[in-house]
Amino acid sequence: MSKKALGLIELIERDHRNLEALFEKLRSAILTGKAEQAQTAFLQLQVSEEEHFAVEERIMREYRYPHLERHKTYHDSLRKTMLTIERVLLAERPKNLHTDIAEYIAETLNHIEEADNPLQTFLRDKASDAAKEAPHKSL
Ligand SMILES: [Fe+2]
Ligand SMILES: [Fe+2]
Repeated sequence: MSKKALGLIELIERDHRNLEALFEKLRSAILTGKAEQAQTAFLQLQVSEEEHFAVEERIMREYRYPHLERHKTYHDSLRKTMLTIERVLLAERPKNLHTDIAEYIAETLNHIEEADNPLQTFLRDKASDAAKEAPHKSL
């Protein structure tokens, strides 16, 4: 239990690093005006982000996280923004795209700080509670 919660924290952190690398890829493709690369990077980001949200939501359900609903609403708002960016990308309006993506990246980084960090703290507490309880269980 304790090891599992710690493993989940690492998984979330790995996902965040991966997402940040994809943001960078997307941002530089947009800045250098490479539309095709931007579309590919965006697609990768969309898939990875959705997988990541699903992972966090599964963890929150499994651990009965008290702020699950609020956290999920936050994910849903990020999902909506991604759809807006997708529409802009498909309509090939790169001028607006840069602003949309910059806002999206800021919003996601905010989410990590405001919502994901407390989730990780919660899991860390679960892990240390389990470690404290462990000796009693073996008695
Ligand atoms: Fe999250
Ligand atoms: Fe996250």
